[in-house]
Amino acid sequence: MTRRIAIIGCGNIGGELAAAIDRGVIKARLTSLYDVVRSKCIELAARLSREKPIVAESIEEMLAAKPDIVVEAASQAAVREHGLKILLAGADLMIMSVGALLDEELRSRLEEASRRTGARIHIPSGAIGGLDAVRALRLAGIDKVTLRTRKPPAALKNAPGAAGVKLEGIRRPETLFRGPASKAVKLFPANVNVAATLTLMSGVEPIVEVIADPMASGNIHEIIIESKASKMKIQVINKPSPANPKTSYLAVLSAVEALRSLASEEKIPWA
Ligand SMILES: NC(=O)c1ccc[n+]([C@@H]2O[C@H](COP(=O)([O-])OP(=O)(O)OC[C@H]3O[C@@H](n4cnc5c(N)ncnc54)[C@H](O)[C@@H]3O)[C@@H](O)[C@H]2O)c1
Repeated sequence: MTRRIAIIGCGNIGGELAAAIDRGVIKARLTSLYDVVRSKCIELAARLSREKPIVAESIEEMLAAKPDIVVEAASQAAVREHGLKILLAGADLMIMSVGALLDEELRSRLEEASRRTGARIHIPSGAIGGLDAVRALRLAGIDKVTLRTRKPPAALKNAPGAAGVKLEGIRRPETLFRGPASKAVKLFPANVNVAATLTLMSGVEPIVEVIADPMASGNIHEIIIESKASKMKIQVINKPSPANPKTSYLAVLSAVEALRSLASEEKIPWA
């Protein structure tokens, strides 16, 4: 059965997902698009060569097209505003702005809606990897998680956590933040979604460090997981995605792969 997909957010990630459906990389139907900036969806729909999706004026109109899976590729605000309605409508929800889920009240409302309707919540691995191992280590007991994120100053522009810092004047690495993930996702909402993903998957709130580094060759995440079974160190040196330097290219690929896999009817994991 061909899965029906709707996308919230017609920017960088949303645009790549729509293009991947259009090219047949993701075998699914794109039913509808929604963005607060409607012109972005109109431009995106115009670039697609196969069936044109509905450009919805509201979430209700988007849901009226009966999607099986709604992808949030917009912002933490979009998860807060629309997440519950989507799950209550019975559609699965793939969340990119994972930082929103560190709000415990929102998370428990979404969990309850998912359990009530059977609609699933999906979180792609985003700009990092190794979450399967993190889940496995959790069974043995994880003691500590540390995340050090190093980005070129331009990628941290407009973050509340960089307010008052002259980013363009930084000549050597400068630590902008050190503290718990729940605080990091509020101060750097477009930069450390991976801190939220690690919190949810490890069950331990990581200590997060955010460094503006003019010498950084990309968006670099260094993760240390200390557990009863292993000490795991992961370093991911990401190229920024061409359309949005705040978002790593790997995060875009991870969204495409997660949706491809969800929509696929293949029974073989490497197919
Ligand atoms: N999970 C991860 O590891 C990871 C990695 C990178 C990016 N992200 C997150 O994914 C999201 C999308 O990233 P992107 O690079 O495509 O961003 P982008 O800025 O290129 O596109 C976002 C689009 O969403 C729209 N939008 C914002 N708020 C909205 C709302 N409330 N309702 C409807 N539309 C709204 C914007 O107008 C914009 O067109 C961001 O929140 C980003 O922080 C997550």
